[in-house]
Amino acid sequence: MIVSDLDHTMVDHHDTENSSLLRFNALWEASYRHDSLLVFSTGRSPTLYKQLRKEKPMITPDITIMSVGTEITYGKSMVPDDGWVQILNQKWDKNIVIEEASKFPELTPQAETEQRAHKVSFYVKKDKAKQVTEALSKILEQRGLDVKIIYSGGVDLDILAQGAGKGQALAYLLKKFETEGKLPGNTLVCGDSGNDAELFSIPGVYGVMVSNAQEELLQWHAENAKDNPKILHASERCASGIIQAIGHFKLGPNLSARDVSDIVHVQNDENASPRHEIVRFCLLNEKWRRAEVENSELLISGLKAAIHPSAIFVHPSGADHNIKEYINIWEKVYGDKQGKQFRTWVDNVLATQISSDTWLVKFDKWELHGEERHGCVISSILRKDTNWFTLMHAHQTWLEQSSQNEWIF
Ligand code: GLC
Ligand code: MG
Repeated sequence: MIVSDLDHTMVDHHDTENSSLLRFNALWEASYRHDSLLVFSTGRSPTLYKQLRKEKPMITPDITIMSVGTEITYGKSMVPDDGWVQILNQKWDKNIVIEEASKFPELTPQAETEQRAHKVSFYVKKDKAKQVTEALSKILEQRGLDVKIIYSGGVDLDILAQGAGKGQALAYLLKKFETEGKLPGNTLVCGDSGNDAELFSIPGVYGVMVSNAQEELLQWHAENAKDNPKILHASERCASGIIQAIGHFKLGPNLSARDVSDIVHVQNDENASPRHEIVRFCLLNEKWRRAEVENSELLISGLKAAIHPSAIFVHPSGADHNIKEYINIWEKVYGDKQGKQFRTWVDNVLATQISSDTWLVKFDKWELHGEERHGCVISSILRKDTNWFTLMHAHQTWLEQSSQNEWIF
């Protein structure tokens, strides 16, 4: 299980190409999606979380923890954990928090979307943070509340129910998994700022502070966890730091398809799987259109060999093409995205073996063209022939439209 913060950890806001995030996505979908859990743990409210998903090429986590560990949801449809809400109601009264905090002129309220049932948030200058935190904790305690005040990013001050926070939310999940007999083999937590500190104090977990971690987190580490060999301060930024930690702690595969220099030729290793093939195929398409692979006879004949002669490609418009037509269309778009912003990634890869040598692979494929993005859900059939996989069929449907439609039986 990976539990990762988003801003400046999974998502690098200084990387306009999103290269580390895309590296991580390809690694996760090919090597981890099928048997591991991805948890995003963010300070953002559901509103700002959804906004980030629109701005950045992000894959779908199994569990989303939002508003600094005060809201836990499951799956794509984000089903809330009501049990967690019950726990947070103890010794918490949002109105009293607002009433007392508003008496501090140093505190500027954050946007309305960021004020949540168990989280009240402000901005405060660095030099005032400590003093305000101490005074406010005392007053709220006198008023019978049990709260937790967290300072992050050198600017954000969150007042939470005492039982909340990213660490407590993770502890709650781990306990739940344990009762269900589904405890993950290893857990890696990833963060960069103050509200992530708690994640690193959960017993038994591995942790990575990305290279660009904030002063407040590094300071917390120096004071509380300096001698813990399971915590790494990565030398790489954001999602690349996460991949670095996977390698450092030997938690599993750490080679992303985006790190392989030759993606044209199938690597004949035991790691080959239908999931790897799908990730490789989509990446090849990106590199083809960006003219980052050579436009050669060899590549085309290799592609032909990887597709069954009677394979059919059903386009989202409903048009279908045989392999010859499909390759003709594909050859013409070589380099059409050269020098432009064009990226592709796959999400929710699910491979189901349907016979001794055949898999049904369903996945979402996204294309980012500058500001615009298009998504398809694809059902494909792959067959294993001694050393490689052959694509037998692919059916694509637009993602956005399908979500707007009524249920179709
Ligand atoms: C996110 C939230 C904000 C919070 C901050 C730190 O930026 O939007 O409300 O204060 O994280 O936890
Ligand atoms: Mg962060």
